[in-house]
Amino acid sequence: MVTRFSISLDGEILESFERFRARHKYANRSEAVRDLIRTALVGEEWKRGSGDVMGVISLVYDHHQRNLLNRITSIQHDAEAHVVSTTHVHMDHHNCLEIVIARGKARHVRALADALFALRGVKNGVLNAASTGRSLH
Ligand code: NI
Repeated sequence: MVTRFSISLDGEILESFERFRARHKYANRSEAVRDLIRTALVGEEWKRGSGDVMGVISLVYDHHQRNLLNRITSIQHDAEAHVVSTTHVHMDHHNCLEIVIARGKARHVRALADALFALRGVKNGVLNAASTGRSLH
């Protein structure tokens, strides 16, 4: 069911919002507001740390760093978050890219990402916060 409601905004915020809408190519204000609300709710789910979330963890690491691949694998086996899928790409002679998709409580997914990022030889790590969206419906 779709409910319509009106929002009162002062001129300055409305102008900023219209620029935001133009930059992100939203067809109308409702689309833009809907995405902002969803982003805020997903962010909150992650902050609370207790909800069920999904995280996409990507790592670029030095292929020649001793034992690094073993450590990366062990950490995933021992993680409280559940690793759903991993993809490995041999980028060039020195570098590997590993993408780990994990599901679980936000604090466990974040702990898994932090443990991987802290490893010696990991050059770049990004955690992308996704949500199962259960609390958004
Ligand atoms: Ni590789």
